[in-house]
Amino acid sequence: MSKGQRVEDIQVVSQDVRTGNQRFGGVPLHVSGVSKTFAGQGRMVEALRPVDLDVAAGEFVCLVGPSGCGKSTLLSIIAGLETASSGSIEVSGCQVSGPGIDRVLLFQEAALFPWLDVQRNVEFGLRQAGIAPQKRAELTQKFIELVHLQGFERSYVHQLSGGMRQRVAIARALVIDPAILLMDEPFGALDALTRDRLHAELETIWANTGKTVVFVTHNVQEAVALADRVLVFSPRPGRITHEFRIDLPRPRSLEDHDLMNESSRILHVLKGVMDEHEREQTNG
Ligand SMILES: Nc1ncnc2c1ncn2[C@@H]1O[C@H](COP(=O)(O)OP(=O)(O)OP(=O)(O)O)[C@@H](O)[C@H]1O
Ligand SMILES: [Mg+2]
Repeated sequence: MSKGQRVEDIQVVSQDVRTGNQRFGGVPLHVSGVSKTFAGQGRMVEALRPVDLDVAAGEFVCLVGPSGCGKSTLLSIIAGLETASSGSIEVSGCQVSGPGIDRVLLFQEAALFPWLDVQRNVEFGLRQAGIAPQKRAELTQKFIELVHLQGFERSYVHQLSGGMRQRVAIARALVIDPAILLMDEPFGALDALTRDRLHAELETIWANTGKTVVFVTHNVQEAVALADRVLVFSPRPGRITHEFRIDLPRPRSLEDHDLMNESSRILHVLKGVMDEHEREQTNG
């Protein structure tokens, strides 16, 4: 980044790394009647009841819900890492039949390669895609700067804090220019201060790239701080029971009164969902 240039000013991922075509933004995601039943050890686990979900291009959707209600399962199916028992996933009108570089999934633990330094971790996907060395170096540097890790290019994973690792994971995901970011509690293991900072960074990156984001969290405030829409999942079998559109102005602050009110409203609904589930369990 040149001196005086703000990260907000960088034109991000405006090029498809494979074709060189200019591109900006995410694509629509259409989840239609997707269910999942796991079979194993003599019993079936109905993880997801048929779920319908439409996410607009460039929309930021958060999924919240109690543990075990199928949030990760749904993300894995969208990523193409898990097959659905029924239903279909369409990305930009094309049916998903497996993993693809148009979708990346980020987890709570940044799954980095410990034997590679930051630069090589970030450029990994570009190498796989056969991008020429000069272009690779250019893009890698751009994304390292985007996540504020310039100066750490030669550091190895064990030399980084949890927040820095997650930044590397985000840069590594973004550098291959996916249209859809799938994030499974990506900041769940971080302290509140680091999480706050990463929220702000993610929001800026999202605003500048226009990516479509599906973000899973247990933290309702985090969901309200980030999302255009928050969807509440109910457990066993998992299904979407409530939807909240978040129209609060951005950038948002966790201390903002309206944000806290909105979070309390959703938390109240979430508690109701859990109480109902517990009653159902107790009554057999
Ligand atoms: N590979 C698997 N084999 C069998 N059952 C599975 C498998 N993966 C998930 N499940 C079951 O599916 C249900 C949903 O799991 P999932 O991990 O999607 O929940 P989750 O909402 O992400 O939970 P958490 O909030 O704790 O991460 C759970 O009952 C879980 O035990
Ligand atoms: Mg999960």
